[in-house]
Amino acid sequence: MPSAIISPSVLASDFGQLTAECKRMIKGGAQWLHMDVMDGHFVPNITMGAPILSSVSKGVPGIFMDCHMMVAQPEKWVNDIADAGGALYCFHIEATSDPISLIESIHERKMKAGVAISPDTPSTAISDEVGELADMLLVMTVYPGRGGQKFIERCVPKVTELRARFPEKDIEVDGGVGPKTVDVCAQAGSNVIVAGTAIFGAERPEEVIATLKSAVDT
Ligand code: DX5
Ligand code: ZN
Repeated sequence: MPSAIISPSVLASDFGQLTAECKRMIKGGAQWLHMDVMDGHFVPNITMGAPILSSVSKGVPGIFMDCHMMVAQPEKWVNDIADAGGALYCFHIEATSDPISLIESIHERKMKAGVAISPDTPSTAISDEVGELADMLLVMTVYPGRGGQKFIERCVPKVTELRARFPEKDIEVDGGVGPKTVDVCAQAGSNVIVAGTAIFGAERPEEVIATLKSAVDT
């Protein structure tokens, strides 16, 4: 299994201090920063888009922005997110009819491509061809749309299924993940851990990051 990557979700951070918050997470041991882009269509909320990501990438040199695109037309934003400095563009399989072309266009812009599945979407929605072409697969463990929700344990078997099919890929879990729920995810084969509330809500985020990392690496 690929090694552990911790990707704090900035949705739970102080947006007024976004650049400083990202720096604080990197200093605390985070490899990636998880940027939740919501468009008010695929999910009811609106969060941030390319202009904000662009400011963050300029303010935090070397940052790896793991962009979780909860948007209705993922094809539409590939160029903007690439121009903004996105490193990984993760779209929802539910939102596109042509995932192969989309992954190719993401790769053309030199970003890694991720494919996400919501809680009610089976792992088989990711075909062998799509899974092989993608760099990362994201199993949502809450319904996309907002932070601070309860972890949905019945999503975990999908991690096991995807790990069996794609032993070399990064497999991310996102939603309600923290020190109490990370073990079951790691045991199922997830190596990329997103956590918002659990990290930003902690007095010492670096300790939470270390705990999450060791759950995967042990
Ligand atoms: C939910 C987002 C998640 C969320 C995670 O739609 O995709 O990334 O911010 O936050 P927590 O860890 O608080 O569930
Ligand atoms: Zn997310």
